Amino acid sequence: MNESIEAIQTEALAQITAARDERALEDARVAVLGKKGSLTRVSAGIKDVPQEDKAAVGQLLNAARTAITAALEAKQLALRDLADRAALAGIDVTLPARDLPCGALHPLTLIRDESIGILRRMGFALAEGPEIEDEFHCFDALNTPADHPARNEKDTFYFDSGKLLRTHTSSVQIRTMESQAPPVRIIAPGSAYRRDEIDATHLSAFNQLEGLYVDADVSLPDLKGTLEYFLHELFGTNTAVRFRPHFFPFTEPSFEIDVQLQLKGQPPRWIEVAGCGMVDPAVFDAINRSRKDHAYDPEKVTGFAFGMGLDRLAMIRWGIKDIRLLIENDVRFLRQFA
Ligand code: PHE
Repeated sequence: MNESIEAIQTEALAQITAARDERALEDARVAVLGKKGSLTRVSAGIKDVPQEDKAAVGQLLNAARTAITAALEAKQLALRDLADRAALAGIDVTLPARDLPCGALHPLTLIRDESIGILRRMGFALAEGPEIEDEFHCFDALNTPADHPARNEKDTFYFDSGKLLRTHTSSVQIRTMESQAPPVRIIAPGSAYRRDEIDATHLSAFNQLEGLYVDADVSLPDLKGTLEYFLHELFGTNTAVRFRPHFFPFTEPSFEIDVQLQLKGQPPRWIEVAGCGMVDPAVFDAINRSRKDHAYDPEKVTGFAFGMGLDRLAMIRWGIKDIRLLIENDVRFLRQFA
């Protein structure tokens, strides 16, 4: 028995030394230590060894197992080391690493996040609604009658189902008031769609930032103060802002807001950035009918709403002359924001 243990050990060590890859090494391991391996088989025979020899044979077996295991481990490390070296052959590890180009946020994302930040500090919470809207939320509830030009086939992307790509984010005003009683103070950034001819200042898919504030005693000075403060935070306190009377079916009175754009070497220009106004009581009536309650009592609450063009804000902020740059994803343009 002792000789056979020694023979097994010698044979195993020779096989391990000869193994040229991890596969051969594994074969060698299984042949000696596997379930049917030579040493495993001999170990099973220990029960037939006479009592007085058992301790000595046991020791020999353990010594053989330890030596073989150690040789297997050492050989495995050596083989891996060899493989690593082969993989690195011909590679100059002292060369500087390849430059990883660093990504940057898109200007629209930057202006949106900054705008949200300013308005959240003023107490507005984020709200959202679907881009595929129904006519009720996009028009009817916003006091926009069926013959209003905004509902025209030529201006709006309709689906066969009668739904449409929302022409403005004002639909989120309706959805918010349907699900929430006053006071309400929300902003809703998102995409809006119109069949506009695409040119330097118009896209058929653009981005808006809607706002709505409804509570007791919300007044026109609140609206002016809020939006002036917002625009001054965004563009600097020296930026000229003007409110021009306008018409929207869902606000009364209504205004458009212009910001003065100063491009180097050019005379200052007014650029329209938002529509706004005091929520028309007819909108509250529609909300109450939809909610089946009187939570938005026009005698008790008033509100203001605004819808800003985020693309326009980005154009003013960075002096971008053509809105199409915002969707072309030309890296020469985008890199300037990194
Ligand atoms: N929804 C209007 C538009 O897209 C903007 C607006 C929003 C006007 C809220 C008044 C109040 O032109």
